[in-house]
Amino acid sequence: MARNVSYAVDAPGGRLEIVKDISLELNAGQTLAIVGASGSGKTTLLGLLAGLETPTAGDIWLAGRNLGDLDEDGRARLRRARVGFVFQSFHLLPSLTALENVMLALEIGRIDQPRERALQALRQVGLDHRLDHYPRQLSGGEQQRVAIARAFAGNPAILFADEPTGNLDRKTGDAVADLLFDLNERNGTALVLVTHDPRLAERCADVATMDDGQLRFGPAEDAGQTDSPAKAASVSRT
Ligand SMILES: Nc1ncnc2c1ncn2[C@@H]1O[C@H](COP(=O)(O)OP(=O)(O)OP(=O)(O)O)[C@@H](O)[C@H]1O
Ligand SMILES: [Mg+2]
Repeated sequence: MARNVSYAVDAPGGRLEIVKDISLELNAGQTLAIVGASGSGKTTLLGLLAGLETPTAGDIWLAGRNLGDLDEDGRARLRRARVGFVFQSFHLLPSLTALENVMLALEIGRIDQPRERALQALRQVGLDHRLDHYPRQLSGGEQQRVAIARAFAGNPAILFADEPTGNLDRKTGDAVADLLFDLNERNGTALVLVTHDPRLAERCADVATMDDGQLRFGPAEDAGQTDSPAKAASVSRT
């Protein structure tokens, strides 16, 4: 899925290598947690894997296609058909209600019965009483749940979620996590989650740690009791 991927930008202090030579394979139905310190490159890696950013070196495959062989439109089509993405900052459209935000994504993806599916997804994240609220009328956790509903409503083959429970209380966070793992089990949706929450990371079959742009397979060294190296074994380096 990713082979020798690097990502560098020209920053004020000079050239900055944010992602350094990362290779990883993701299989259908897999669950992978990416953990690591703030600023280590987790969000950047997720954007690369989802085809939202183009690597400065290396290759990424999504649904069997090498993203380097596709132009911007081709990548967008592939994303709409196969990928769900929950952004760390939600990225909801402020002029659309919760329901409209979820429906728009489905309409763009030409998915059947967008309204019914959007309603069902919002019900599953416990927001049926906030359908007609605009993002500014929603709490942070509610906005996060709209973003999650939008990401899974179209039944993606792979769902990337950047700290999907970061703004939620424990009970709501657990419910959202249950929902994600339920999708994984029922539909075989592969999950790639960035999280600072060791409880969420533990629920994934595999854990990898970002450290200054490099990915190491296994949980964070300071993860204490959550440490279980065997969990990382099936993430192979290609
Ligand atoms: N376009 C950019 N130009 C310059 N620097 C960038 C750019 N994008 C990201 N960075 C820097 O790269 C580093 C990694 O950013 P990234 O958002 O991937 O971190 P992260 O691991 O997701 O952190 P957090 O846990 O805080 O969300 C940060 O130091 C950030 O400032
Ligand atoms: Mg981030």
